[in-house]
Amino acid sequence: MGIYVWGTGCGASELMAQGFRKESVTAFVDSFPSGGCFLGKPVLLPEEIPVSDCTLLIVTTRQAEEIAGRCARLGIPEERCLFLKNGVFLTDRNAASRRTADLLLGEELTGRLLPRHFTIPEPGQLRGGTLPVQELENDYVRLGTLELLCRRLEDVPGAVAELGVYRGRFARNINRLLPERTLYLFDSFEGFDPAAGAGEAMQAAHENTSVRQVLEALPFPEKAIVKPGFFPESLNGLEEIFCLVSLDVDFEGATLEGLRYFWPRLSPGGYLLLHDWGNPGLPGPGKALERYEAEAGERLPAVPIPDLNGTLVLCKSAGSTA
Ligand SMILES: C[S@@+](CC[C@H](N)C(=O)[O-])C[C@H]1O[C@@H](n2cnc3c(N)ncnc32)[C@H](O)[C@@H]1O
Repeated sequence: MGIYVWGTGCGASELMAQGFRKESVTAFVDSFPSGGCFLGKPVLLPEEIPVSDCTLLIVTTRQAEEIAGRCARLGIPEERCLFLKNGVFLTDRNAASRRTADLLLGEELTGRLLPRHFTIPEPGQLRGGTLPVQELENDYVRLGTLELLCRRLEDVPGAVAELGVYRGRFARNINRLLPERTLYLFDSFEGFDPAAGAGEAMQAAHENTSVRQVLEALPFPEKAIVKPGFFPESLNGLEEIFCLVSLDVDFEGATLEGLRYFWPRLSPGGYLLLHDWGNPGLPGPGKALERYEAEAGERLPAVPIPDLNGTLVLCKSAGSTA
């Protein structure tokens, strides 16, 4: 009787943060294993899952549609697959597996992992939109907002940047939507600063990436300038102006440094997306904004959006000189 966990990234670390114990895992599964083991457990390719031993497969990544098809082809029955990231579908993919999960993991834990929160209908594409549905499925509100914001940047000068890139899932959409702009990508590529306070699973998940993996994810990699290393040291004196910045480093210290650097360099009419501002599991970004506003002596103009992690879109007003 084995419990297998599909994914060795953020979803897996969120699973542990909810109280799932790594000791319960028989093995992790990943289509692109970047090392033989994760949190001390083996990482298998999907084809290597021993189907008869797999009592429960917990899918922690967002490509539910694709993985459900793959599991069916591998002969893993629906009632053994629990999808943790299926919130954008009206159909509950876990209708058949929820009971098995309740029995194996306990109802309290499955209740935390799959709260009966609202679902939004299967995403339609925006009118005239260019992002493919597979991307929108990941976080419809976040990506739909990004696409609409990009439409307003035509006359706003500057490069684009992301601080906190991980595997480039959001960066590839910025790159796709703004193919003419230089894209600066800042990440340590070795997880969080040890002083930041990341737990073991979160740290391990975020070490699991590389510059190469990110560049391969981009549709226009020739526009990217990668700045590996811990921010703000990784700036190495960079002077630029920006029309759009995604700030997604999960913790207070690095977020504050990001605000100190990017907000004054954001062009009037530009946007800064502060990820996790409304995420109760990650209070750091919200606290960093409070500290930055206290330093600046002003409340920054912003609009919160109801995406999966509560992004705050900071808007530099077109007449601003800050
Ligand atoms: C949540 S992930 C980013 C996810 C990405 N924005 C996305 O949506 O696909 C956070 C990333 O921030 C990086 N990070 C955190 N603190 C950092 C710092 N001080 N300097 C550079 N990178 C940092 C981590 O290495 C991690 O890859």
